[in-house]
Amino acid sequence: MLHIEQLNQLRALRQQWRDAGETVAFVPTMGNLHSGHLKLVRHASALADHVIVSIYVNPMQFGANEDLDAYPRTLDADMQALVALNVSAVFTPGTPDMYPRGIEAQTAIEVPAISDVLCGASRPGHFRGVATIVNKLFNMVQPDIAVFGKKDYQQLQVIRRMVEDLSMPVDIQGVETEREESGLAKSSRNGYLSDQQKRQAAVIYAQLVTAGQRVLSNAQDFPKIEQQANQEIAQAGLTPEYFSIRRCRDLSTAQPGDAANELVIVAAAKLGTTRLIDNLEVASLK
Ligand code: PAF
Repeated sequence: MLHIEQLNQLRALRQQWRDAGETVAFVPTMGNLHSGHLKLVRHASALADHVIVSIYVNPMQFGANEDLDAYPRTLDADMQALVALNVSAVFTPGTPDMYPRGIEAQTAIEVPAISDVLCGASRPGHFRGVATIVNKLFNMVQPDIAVFGKKDYQQLQVIRRMVEDLSMPVDIQGVETEREESGLAKSSRNGYLSDQQKRQAAVIYAQLVTAGQRVLSNAQDFPKIEQQANQEIAQAGLTPEYFSIRRCRDLSTAQPGDAANELVIVAAAKLGTTRLIDNLEVASLK
């Protein structure tokens, strides 16, 4: 497994593989890898001749009140986990290369509307930071395929939209969320939870499933379903931020008469100081 830090090395490698007619699947990450990330890497390695993983904690997607410095950096452990998989190269660029003129002066990608709702409403500028860095990484890595987790559903749809709108030649693949036995979605943030809190947090997935089953059985009073789920989540000791039935493609609010297959239920809640997100595509319950 190669460890690449410089863009010119990455470009030379890509040229070599292109000349040999070999394809690349790319998994962008911010490191601190857990089994959910490794699932993305395994998925990627079945799709192309080479897998490239990037590890870069992107300052542009952190808000002023979000602690970028506290984000866990675990490069040695991450590299060890990736060596065990079929990864050809790990790309770990530095901030001076990624933002040579600083973040304020960076040319940015705006993906309108879909970036402003749900997590985008409470984290203004977050998806601008994500879209910009993913765009840059795509230009650097030039992948045929890029793999993202469905756990960050809004992020996945923002990236799909960017790729479609900018006619980028990358096939975007979404991979199902890895879960604990309790149903709790695997996330780097679970590391901040005690065992008791992890048990409490399982209420989010349980409520997604309950709501999903109601939608599947043709319940149409979406605000009522959302309100009841929020009540259950609050009763378990979490502070709900949103629980919302949306259209998968653009995350607009679901309307009575929408096909259940095309709906996703998205949720965010805080437990102590830890913000948790999860979602469920209604079609996955069939
Ligand atoms: O999902 C993440 O880890 C990040 O948002 C991503 C896609 C690597 C961009 O920094």
